[in-house]
Amino acid sequence: MAFGGDYNPEQWPAQVWPEDIALMREAGVTMATVGVFAWAHLEPRPGTYEFGWLDQVLDLLHGGGVDVDLATATASPPPWLAQLHPETLPVDVDGRTLWPGSRQAYCPSSAVFRERATALTEELATRYAGHPALALWHVGNEYACHTTCCWCDVSAAAFREWLADRYGDIEALNQAWGTSFWSQRYGDFDQVFPPRSTPTFGNPGKALDFRRFSSDEHLACYIAERDVLRRITPDVPVTTNFMAHSEVVDYWRWAREVDVVSNDHYLTADDPDGHQELAFSADVSRGLAGGRPWLLMEHSTSAVNWQPRNVAKRPGETVRNNLQHVARGSEGALFFQWRQSRAGAEKYHSALVPHAGTESRLWREVVDLGATLDRLSPVVGSTVRADVALIFDWESWWATEHVATPSIDVTYRDRALALHRALLAAGLTVDVVSPPTTGGQLAQYPLVLAPTLHLVSSSTASVLAEYVQAGGHLLVTYFSGIADEQDRVHLGGYPGAFRDLLGVRVQEFCPLRDGQTVRLLDQTGTDAGCSDVWTEDLHLTGADAVLTYADGPVPGCAALTRQARGAGVGWYLATRTDDTTTASILREVCAEAGVTAPYDVPAGVELVRRHSDDAAYVFAINHGSADATVQIAGTDLIGGSVIDAELRLAGGAVAVVAQAAAG
Ligand code: GAL
Repeated sequence: MAFGGDYNPEQWPAQVWPEDIALMREAGVTMATVGVFAWAHLEPRPGTYEFGWLDQVLDLLHGGGVDVDLATATASPPPWLAQLHPETLPVDVDGRTLWPGSRQAYCPSSAVFRERATALTEELATRYAGHPALALWHVGNEYACHTTCCWCDVSAAAFREWLADRYGDIEALNQAWGTSFWSQRYGDFDQVFPPRSTPTFGNPGKALDFRRFSSDEHLACYIAERDVLRRITPDVPVTTNFMAHSEVVDYWRWAREVDVVSNDHYLTADDPDGHQELAFSADVSRGLAGGRPWLLMEHSTSAVNWQPRNVAKRPGETVRNNLQHVARGSEGALFFQWRQSRAGAEKYHSALVPHAGTESRLWREVVDLGATLDRLSPVVGSTVRADVALIFDWESWWATEHVATPSIDVTYRDRALALHRALLAAGLTVDVVSPPTTGGQLAQYPLVLAPTLHLVSSSTASVLAEYVQAGGHLLVTYFSGIADEQDRVHLGGYPGAFRDLLGVRVQEFCPLRDGQTVRLLDQTGTDAGCSDVWTEDLHLTGADAVLTYADGPVPGCAALTRQARGAGVGWYLATRTDDTTTASILREVCAEAGVTAPYDVPAGVELVRRHSDDAAYVFAINHGSADATVQIAGTDLIGGSVIDAELRLAGGAVAVVAQAAAG
């Protein structure tokens, strides 16, 4: 199990480094990510490299038994780059230059930036190839985190090339974007600008392609460095840290390009149930890793400085957060950062070694955590067993949240999180998957969820239809299947791509007013819950109504439908149900799909299974304050106790129950 985090020794005098190593030993640190923001130290003047300090640091770490995840240090260019080449600076949608002085101030399409970044990468790889501490390469840092897109002239030229590549001729682009509307018809690729600020709504097709382009440009920066590393150190795996369910790039495209998926996650401190969103992030990471183990590259021991309120974690919270990631497939838990900065923009961000030093609760927890992770080493290599699949799609996200959509209240991630939350509470584990494009991809799942899958290609639509035909259960939620991959509406009634499969035809969207709610009734006329944001004038063309609206714009219309198709069932949920209603709908859908939780889960307790060939590991995490019990036998790897039949879990406690055979 990897344990440790970002180590930024360049922020400290060299006299501190031996103490760092001694403390790392005390805490059981096994991995340090070095040099993420060290470009200005490694290349203080253009072409002049200073590696002496890094040599010393890597040797010290190696001497302390700590593996190094060595950064290419290209996440933030040094000030001289902007001075020499101001054209490398990013420009925002309004044409304002984003100046150096924070981080990530570069345009991803800049050839100058890429050239300088790959030159540094080449120097680093050449120098440290064969260094015994080098275990992993860490390219850049959270690509696109701040400068998701750049609207400068360099980007404009690159965008035009990207479009010419994608469409071949300008007429194909005109068709795709529907440029006959508002006199936008282009005669040449040279007439196309990035979607800079416009008098009113810009073209949605263009906006979508610009997101795709921007994701690809950042990816090209990553690939340029990765290829240098692969050439010089072919045996060292390469990663870059993702921000799993953030909208910035299409991580399905990125995931194929890394040797190890690594992810950063920061708990939303203001959310008392933040662990639910954490679980989703971890499941997205595992999905990106194709179900294989992945690595939690960053999280926090306590306060996160960039949130509006730097709420500190309560005792025991870090270990719970930590184990959630491990339960869901991470092979360890790394943090930002080792030693809390004395100065700079993140000096109030927590770390493993806090400002208070080692005489602190936080440090004691860090030491305990190291020991806990060490005890979990048998878990390494095992994989997570999930019950249900959920389709997640960045392109649908971008299209759903374009400004010119039917309701500002329809946001992409909302339903994915809501469905995931309900299944988490029911003790079920979810695999997050990409929109399927080839048959059989989903065959292992009895139930597949498609929340707000707005853009659906004909191949995805037919794979999902085959899945249901063959016995699968599919639950689709509103604003799905509306448009094709170019954001052009499937005509003939919504949800065009799924009309036949679901046996419904929607004539008109009926979004609700701000704060308006509607009541739902079951088929006996009994109150069956509540929803908001969205309703539809839905007509049944084969499906049965399961729930209908009692009031709102379309009383009597179906809100939840069910159609048997071949050996399976297609469900359609046309409104935004509240959490209680969502949970009860999922109970019914799961029951029919034969999905049952492996254990009875007390409220507030999270249970996840990892399996290897000869063992199962059940992670039990009590997020509540009340004691709980789970009927399970085995050995608790953390506490060491043998559990005959019943695991007692105090409020806030964790256990990892190892069982000899799959249980
Ligand atoms: C991450 C970033 C780290 C650090 C951290 C603080 O987004 O990769 O460098 O800034 O946030 O939470």
